[in-house]
Amino acid sequence: MNNPLELTNELVAEAFADYRKNQAYRIDEVTEAKAHDQGARVGVSRKHESAHLHVAGEAAYIDDLPELEGTLHCALGLSPVAHGRLTALALEAVRAMPEVVDVITAADIPGVNDCGSIIHDDPILCDGEIRYVGQPLFAVIARSRDAARRAAALAKAAATISELAPVLTPRKAHELGQYVMPPMHLERSTREGGARAAMDAAPHRLKGSFDVGGQEQFYLEGQISYATPKEDGAVHIHCSTQHPSEMQHLVAHALGVASHSVHVECRRMGGGFGGKESQSALFACVAAVAATRLQKPVKLRLDRDDDFMITGRRHCFWYEYEVGYDDEGRVLGAEISMVSRAGHSADLSAPVMTRALCHFDNTYWLPDVLMHGYMGKTNTQSNTAFRGFGGPQGAIAIENILDTVARSLGRDPLDVRRVNFYGKGERNITPYEQVVTDNVIHELVAELEESSDYRARRAAVNAFNAGSAVLKRGLALTPLKFGISFNVAHFNQAGALVHIYTDGSILVNHGGTEMGQGLNTKVAQVVAHELGVAFENVRVTATDTSKVANTSATAASTGADLNGKAAQDAARQLRERLAECAARLHGGEAHDVRFANNAVQVNGQNVPFAELVRAAYLQRVQLWSDGFYATPGLHWDGKRMKGHPFFYFAYGAAVSEVVIDTLTGEWKLLRADVLHDVGRSLNPAVDVGQVEGAFIQGMGWLTTEELVWHPQTGKLTTHAPSTYKIPTANDCPPVFNVRLFEGDNYEDSIHRSKAVGEPPLLLPFSVFFAIRDAVSAAGEHRMNPPLQAPATSEAILRAVEAVQGHTG
Ligand code: MTE
Ligand code: MOS
Repeated sequence: MNNPLELTNELVAEAFADYRKNQAYRIDEVTEAKAHDQGARVGVSRKHESAHLHVAGEAAYIDDLPELEGTLHCALGLSPVAHGRLTALALEAVRAMPEVVDVITAADIPGVNDCGSIIHDDPILCDGEIRYVGQPLFAVIARSRDAARRAAALAKAAATISELAPVLTPRKAHELGQYVMPPMHLERSTREGGARAAMDAAPHRLKGSFDVGGQEQFYLEGQISYATPKEDGAVHIHCSTQHPSEMQHLVAHALGVASHSVHVECRRMGGGFGGKESQSALFACVAAVAATRLQKPVKLRLDRDDDFMITGRRHCFWYEYEVGYDDEGRVLGAEISMVSRAGHSADLSAPVMTRALCHFDNTYWLPDVLMHGYMGKTNTQSNTAFRGFGGPQGAIAIENILDTVARSLGRDPLDVRRVNFYGKGERNITPYEQVVTDNVIHELVAELEESSDYRARRAAVNAFNAGSAVLKRGLALTPLKFGISFNVAHFNQAGALVHIYTDGSILVNHGGTEMGQGLNTKVAQVVAHELGVAFENVRVTATDTSKVANTSATAASTGADLNGKAAQDAARQLRERLAECAARLHGGEAHDVRFANNAVQVNGQNVPFAELVRAAYLQRVQLWSDGFYATPGLHWDGKRMKGHPFFYFAYGAAVSEVVIDTLTGEWKLLRADVLHDVGRSLNPAVDVGQVEGAFIQGMGWLTTEELVWHPQTGKLTTHAPSTYKIPTANDCPPVFNVRLFEGDNYEDSIHRSKAVGEPPLLLPFSVFFAIRDAVSAAGEHRMNPPLQAPATSEAILRAVEAVQGHTG
């Protein structure tokens, strides 16, 4: 292979063969699980509970639901200006458009005009202050979606705005001291004078800055809400949301009614990725206001461009740092300022920044450290949750620093990373004072270093680069540690409801939402396991605020941990009741009754599960139960930024090898090896899918996905897939070895598993640093490449030019 950029047919064929092998392995596992002792319901690979519906196009998303008679459609009129005052809104022409039934403005909202999740600074419709290009000014309700959109498109002509200069970048906001929330500071000192003194005394010092871009969630199903008025002032809303309870509360406020009058339902989302945690609220509120006002069902489904223009995404971060280190690259002291682009309102920017500050340590012991977090208020969409929730932005900062330290010392970055790892029993306290008691990073990295053949490949990369003038290869291994739990302790609770019907079939409801991650599959496995029945006997229904109340967002990767435990609690209560009933009917002791293979063993007899259930019903035994779980041991002092915010940590590491073309900036990921810790997996196939998906999604964030706001007008110019490049199947590396690390969760999590949703998003740091390594090679490793993320081809080319222009 002369030019590795040209994937030859053989390579493609090889990749497919590999992929098929992988699939075959998974299917084998599923088959095996069926044949295997039917008692083992957790820990086996099985397909996603809706996989057969997904592939057949039969899984119902909200826009697929049959429309009710008289359904009206809504579209939003958007601000063409980034900052200013709305002095007049002339809506006559909008109202006069064909099929238009109504136009709603802020004044028509019966309750509070706010959909802010924590801070109430987020108007549903413009209240006079123009905050960003794309801000909803009014809502049009028409007989068809097309008509509503045509009328809403008249917004520019309808609005009279007296313009003000917009603040568009975090740098500018920071300069002006303009933040959505007060700055945060997190400090830990082990010596007098703290980080400053440690840096002053260190043998080496380094200062720098770094930029990391934001990221669009790009869920395939866009934001959508479908509201139907119900009797006596109530409303029902089908909403694509990760947080039905918050939607319920915010809609109740917007309508000025009590929460019991608002019923929110979500069967599944076509992806959320954090983008439907808080930001589904605006659409739920507008649809509900319109539906109750007109007493007609109203659907609001965003067009993709509007979704980009209205909603926020991952925060971009800008860092300035100083670090002191020794000859081996051990960090002795560090100070860092992180400035995020919060956008026009607070939304989740404060918890995102908290998580960023609590992940700057990543897998490293930083004895003396001082961190500052600033959430810049800008005239752009309000940024929000995105897989990792600030954790990736915090951790990549230290990775960039260590990579830079290693290059400055002329050492292999893996060696520098390793000397900084948290110890076991010592050097193990995080800057926020939680002790790291479950550290497996040493074993995990050692195993991956070996299985990926890191050292030999390092030599091969060097040899390749010595003989190749234009193409340069790069290699990197990066580790991760990710804290599991919401930083706010009270969110770490969940409820479930389990019904057993008289035919023995089981219906489960829990507070979590399904967005493709396989939560319902895992919860069904847990319930089937508990009651000793086949997976197929258990069905999980739509998330519904009228079934389980006051639920937390399905976020922070806690879905299976929290709802799995709550469902287990409900199922255990049912099992105990059934065991007592069985002992009463058949003799023996209740605690000796066993549930396995769709049957109950009691006093030497084998009673089919359904038979026992029927008998229990006749005995008037309660055959449904609620369940509850609250994560133990958590506390957090937000003022001091100290505490024990995480139940445990998930770990992982990846090795990536890339090749770049130094003339064009093009690049290709040639191979990736991943070892990721999910504790004792509830479902290896689903977990591997999460790891692979997160890897490619994170790679997109750090390489091809670039957001560009027009520097004068503040309009997001990259608001469609034509200009905003998410990765595709073609971007998967031809060699992609993903393995799960063997080992149980040290904590008593659900069946000793670990959360998997977000942590693997940090794995593709290895891709970014492999690119940085290749760029460094282009300059004979004379200088640290000034490479920023995303490492687009343009950014790579600029960095190559910088290192090649540098003569040392
Ligand atoms: N996987 C799919 N397929 N779709 C998604 O939207 N969201 C991610 C992750 N994996 C997401 C996904 C995010 S941001 C989170 S927080 C978790 O799933 C949420 O689900 P969990 O807590 O059940 O893991
Ligand atoms: Mo995930 S960003 O916590 O929704």
